[in-house]
Amino acid sequence: MKIFSGNANPQLAKEIAAAMSTSLSPLEIHVFPDGERRVQLKESVVAEDVVIVGPTSPPVDTHLVELLLLVDAAKRSGAKSVTAVVPYLGYQRQDHVFRDGEAVSLDVVRKIIEAVGVGKMVIIDGHSARISQLFSVPLLHLSALSLFAEQIKKLSTFNSQPTTFCLVSPDMGGIRRIKLLSVMLGNMPYVVIEKNRDLESGSLTAEKFSGTIRKRAIIIDDMISSGKTIKLAAELLAENGVSESIVFATHAVFSDHAPDVLQNSQVAKVYVTNTIAVSDKKRFAKLEILSVANLIAKNVILTF
Ligand code: R5P
Repeated sequence: MKIFSGNANPQLAKEIAAAMSTSLSPLEIHVFPDGERRVQLKESVVAEDVVIVGPTSPPVDTHLVELLLLVDAAKRSGAKSVTAVVPYLGYQRQDHVFRDGEAVSLDVVRKIIEAVGVGKMVIIDGHSARISQLFSVPLLHLSALSLFAEQIKKLSTFNSQPTTFCLVSPDMGGIRRIKLLSVMLGNMPYVVIEKNRDLESGSLTAEKFSGTIRKRAIIIDDMISSGKTIKLAAELLAENGVSESIVFATHAVFSDHAPDVLQNSQVAKVYVTNTIAVSDKKRFAKLEILSVANLIAKNVILTF
């Protein structure tokens, strides 16, 4: 097996390769003055199973095209199979037509990934549980929830006062996620917030919630983009008697001023994973990053 990495998250790719007791194969990605890319695999892949690690994180379009070019290069160079490990898959939120006249971005991305010759896909915490049904190629849908459960069990307050905790989904879309985590944590009670997003202006509101609220809240989400969903959830929880909110989110998209929004919010700590590379300038004091390398390595090995 040969593992290659695009430019999106080479550090994670290195960790995955190390966890599989191998190292990354060399390649060259040349960027032309107009922004176009030329890729070249620098090692033979004839009759090899090739794994390409490339989250389509921001800049999404650039990283998506880079992934497609790498898959094409592997196919043209005689690879036996190509598996795309895309820990964060961009364009997932537009998974249906919300308003007349819109495109279904996820379907467009799926079509081009399949058309270029990906034989298998690996993703982590897709926006919808249905994503594997949308792809025609086998899609391994992994989840960081087990990492989160492990980390939650290590929190000192969790060990001394487990009954003071509740799980929180900051919107209705996350119910499945917190139900699964609740079971992993011995049926911890959970709360679901009713978040509304104005599709025209993008503004968010959250005034209501259902479920059992406790003194300490663990907010779970698949991704943090602007940070507004988390900020709003923490404010609503504080208004309703929660004294400490801790956040666990898989994908650190961190657009706009998300690091400042989160650092200055009422949350005590923000755990994310390294599905997306977080640059130094986007790191902040309350942030902690958990690695998904072992999770990916273990499961990719099992698929061969
Ligand atoms: C929404 O459906 C997602 O699960 C996240 O809650 C959302 O994408 C977070 O976005 P933001 O950080 O911009 O509020």
